[in-house]
Parts: sequence; structure tokens; C-alpha cells
Amino acid sequence: MTEIGLEPLLTESQIQERVTELAKQIAADYGETQVLLVAVLRGSIHFVSDLARRIGRADWELDFIQVRSYQSGRKSSGVVQIRKDLDTNLEGRDVLIVEDVVDTGATLAHLRELLGTRRPKSLRVVALLVKEGAIRAGTQVEYMGFRIPDAFVVGYGLDYDERYRHLPYVAILP
Ligand code: IMP
Ligand code: MG
Repeated sequence: MTEIGLEPLLTESQIQERVTELAKQIAADYGETQVLLVAVLRGSIHFVSDLARRIGRADWELDFIQVRSYQSGRKSSGVVQIRKDLDTNLEGRDVLIVEDVVDTGATLAHLRELLGTRRPKSLRVVALLVKEGAIRAGTQVEYMGFRIPDAFVVGYGLDYDERYRHLPYVAILP
């Protein structure tokens, strides 16, 4: 148990090891290509920072998009709204969406559709956490960190009403 009483589902070292593996795989796949990392705010802040620094010799650029599907609380509303758009032109770019967690898959489906209309050369997704429900629904995720149960999780950037983002591990919120 930790000081705030949340039992880690994924420890800091498990997360860090897996992020390193994902970064290696991405670096190998993209090679010399300059990849544009599109981090989905706000949950992916720690993930994108750790991942980007470990992609190594592969060059990368970074931009942010913010969407909103959760009004507040633990359930997806299913309605996806763009709150902050990208500044970068995607045309001809190799785009990698960096997402913290995929739950219903609605956010990703919407993002793929929207960013796809901007004519990127390629469009892939790396998600640290993918819930069983999203896997059952057949949500496409090219790089997956961990498959996790259908529970509400916090930590490592993920919040519950803006709390718990600071935790270095991921825990199920009881
Ligand atoms: P989806 O559209 O249902 O796949 O939900 C995706 C978005 O909802 C993620 O990008 C998160 O921002 C948020 N979200 C989904 N599940 C969780 C969770 O367990 N903890 C915190 N945020 C979550
Ligand atoms: Mg998110």
C-alpha cells in the first residue's frame, strides 16, 4: 500500500520497463523517419515525455490535442469534443497518436477519423493502457503498453477529477 492507500496495478518499474520497450520498437519501425507525436492531453503527459526521450536516435516532433469525452467522473459520455486542436499541418506527415488509456475506443475512433482527413502519410496509435472492453470491441492500437481490466484507473498522468496524476504508478480507483 502507498501513502494514499491505493494498491498499484502497475508499478513504477513495470511502467518504465514497458515504456522503454515501446520506445525501442517505435524507433526500430520508424528508423530515420521524422515522426510527429500527437499527445492527447492531459492524461498522456508523463507517458509522452518518457516515451519521446527514449525513442533515441529517431527524430521526433511533438504537438498536443485535447479532447473531452468525460464530463467528470468515471464514465465516458460517448460524445467526443475537440477542446484544443493541433498547430501542426499533418499533410504528408508520419503521425503517431500518443494516448494514455483506451476505454470504449470512442475517443480514438474520433481522432483517427479527424486526423485522417488531414492527409497524413501514416497514422498510428501508441496507447499505454488498453482496457479489455476496447480489445473486445476490436479497437485498433498499433503499439500497446498494457492490457488492463475494465476498471477506472488513476496515476502516471491519469486523473479522477484532476486528482492522482502525480502518482508514478497506476492504480485501480476503488
Ligand atoms: P474512451 O473514449 O472511452 O476510449 O476513453 C478515452 C479517454 O477517457 C482517455 O483518453 C482518458 O482520458 C479517459 N479515460 C478512460 N478511462 C479512464 C480511466 O480509467 N482513468 C482515467 N481516465 C480514463
Ligand atoms: Mg486521454
